[in-house]
Amino acid sequence: MIRINENYTKLKASYLFSDISKRVAAFQQANPDKQIIRLGIGDVTEPLPPACIEAMQAATAEMASRATFRGYGPEQGYGFLREAIAQHDYAARGCRIEPDEIFVSDGAKCDSGNIQEIFATDIRLAIPDPVYPVYIDTNVMAGRTGENVDGRYQGVMYLESTPQNGYVPAVPDSPADLIYLCFPNNPTGAVATREQLKAWVDYARRSRAVILFDSAYEAYIRDPAIPHSIYEIEGAREVAIELRSMSKTAGFTGMRCAYAVVPKSVTAWDRAGKPHALHALWNRRHTTKFNGVAYPIQRSAAAIFSEAGKKQVREMTDFYLGNAALIRAAAARLGFGCIGGDNAPYIWLNTGRDSWEFFDLLLARAGVVCTPGAGFGKCGEGHVRISAFNSRENVAAALERIQKALA
Ligand SMILES: Cc1ncc(COP(=O)(O)O)c(C=O)c1O
Repeated sequence: MIRINENYTKLKASYLFSDISKRVAAFQQANPDKQIIRLGIGDVTEPLPPACIEAMQAATAEMASRATFRGYGPEQGYGFLREAIAQHDYAARGCRIEPDEIFVSDGAKCDSGNIQEIFATDIRLAIPDPVYPVYIDTNVMAGRTGENVDGRYQGVMYLESTPQNGYVPAVPDSPADLIYLCFPNNPTGAVATREQLKAWVDYARRSRAVILFDSAYEAYIRDPAIPHSIYEIEGAREVAIELRSMSKTAGFTGMRCAYAVVPKSVTAWDRAGKPHALHALWNRRHTTKFNGVAYPIQRSAAAIFSEAGKKQVREMTDFYLGNAALIRAAAARLGFGCIGGDNAPYIWLNTGRDSWEFFDLLLARAGVVCTPGAGFGKCGEGHVRISAFNSRENVAAALERIQKALA
């Protein structure tokens, strides 16, 4: 008799975005004439930078000719892309990352979900609350947690982000083994200072732990004092894996290109206490289960680092940050506390009431969809996430409607 992986039965039954879709569909059915504006799901709306389109078209043309056609590429990514990443995303910021420490993939979602495979099942997890759900759900699937009791999986150390700590959790008193950190944060939009990240790196070194640092929103940082990479912190090369994505950097959500950085110096131990380089384990995992990102997509991704590409990416991220500034200003006018939106495309609104109730209120009175904070964890209660990924027109219209609805 074939049996299931029973860890899947521990997963909380409904997924946040499907709950939202159901409520939105019910509202639309009851109000067929109302035009709904979605400031909920974090997908980009603007077209790809022209430099990326041109590079993809040229690469597609290469695939049409026998002389330049390419089949399977290196699983870890083409050298031209890994070298561009090492140079522009790391060397340019004073970080020493070699091209062969970069693993190109088809998404930071897959990377953040897959990385846990290379660790033992009985390690101690430290996971943010609120959280990008992939970090916790993939560990539940792998059997690293107990049951979900009152919205929390047993055995997990939750790193609480609250108004009291400025939505940046302090290092815990007890040690953890695998620590998930995400800055700029989804869903809160909070960023971590150099001192805060240093405290995490020091904690990981003391605990002989590994930090999984998700910086998918790094391109939105405008404050020059905020680190873009965990490797800007001394000692991080020994304890941190970093994930990045072209999705929010350059509008690649439909293209699929990201990368994981696994420095050769990051170590974990086996039961006998023997050290192992995680680079070798991840290389084994990646090359066994993944066959590389499409060549035209990698060429397109490399164009992000051209002079024209850099300028266009900046314009695109500036555009979304312009939306975010409007949202922040509206929140202030309405008297809500909020964080995010200045170095991130998300604004985390402290609504002071039940987050699903606030969601329903915005939907019913304004026809605007936001994301209830409770869907991201217990500490998300009382908050909603508003996304700046939309046209200026939609953001302005949504804010006008919200203003009227809540005035
Ligand atoms: C924190 C975080 N990491 C990773 C991802 C996924 O990125 P990708 O499109 O590269 O899979 C997202 C997407 O919303 C995200 O918010």
